[in-house]
Amino acid sequence: MTQHKLYKNAANYWAKVPATLNGVLGGFGHISDIDIGGSRTFLNHLLTLQDPPNTNIALDCGAGIGRVSKNLLISYFDKVDLVEQDEKFINAAKENIGEDNAKLGTIYHLSLQHFKPEKMYDLIWCQWILGCLNDYDLINFLIRCSKSLTTNGLIIVKENISSSNELDYDEKDYSVTRPYELMLMLFDAACLKIVKTDVQVDFPDEIYSVHMFALKPK
Ligand SMILES: C[S@@+](CC[C@H](N)C(=O)[O-])C[C@H]1O[C@@H](n2cnc3c(N)ncnc32)[C@H](O)[C@@H]1O
Repeated sequence: MTQHKLYKNAANYWAKVPATLNGVLGGFGHISDIDIGGSRTFLNHLLTLQDPPNTNIALDCGAGIGRVSKNLLISYFDKVDLVEQDEKFINAAKENIGEDNAKLGTIYHLSLQHFKPEKMYDLIWCQWILGCLNDYDLINFLIRCSKSLTTNGLIIVKENISSSNELDYDEKDYSVTRPYELMLMLFDAACLKIVKTDVQVDFPDEIYSVHMFALKPK
């Protein structure tokens, strides 16, 4: 299958998924609060670094229904922009966050492989989305993000990690789960270095291990 067709199939898959917590979390809507709690602890630590990122503006990539923006980013940043390719999710995100919420910034209706940031961001959050990109598009996406960071800005990656050294393909949503070592190679290829990394705790045993990485340009 060509890459174009894979991306199209993935978009078609998400187009049929309901705009709910359970929808975007593949039936695991009930773990959202634990997830947000782990992200909050991680972010709190990053904000106490010697050279912390500013908290003016963040970008939520593959934002879905605005779960991360609404429950996490908006309480830290003055403005939060979102990028998401599915129109129904964008509408749900606007409703969930509140279109009149002064902290809601620009919503980009785009796929990440085509998205080129127009602004500079203090923090770029990528969660449960990078498996939708092939390695080549992911490296280039990370390079574009890296060039769009303000001083001390960070890219956060929060993703499933495969337990083997193999790629796990998901035939339902056309995504891929990468092993830890490959993630490190891709960050390196995008000239990013790890400032901090942690593993999400208290998730159910039956799901992948979820790792958080805070990255900055080398
Ligand atoms: C598993 S959901 C995660 C949503 C959100 N990050 C969260 O944690 O709640 C994956 C999201 O990525 C979006 N998506 C899938 N492929 C994408 C692509 N190539 N570009 C942008 N968004 C994409 C889907 O529409 C969906 O909203």
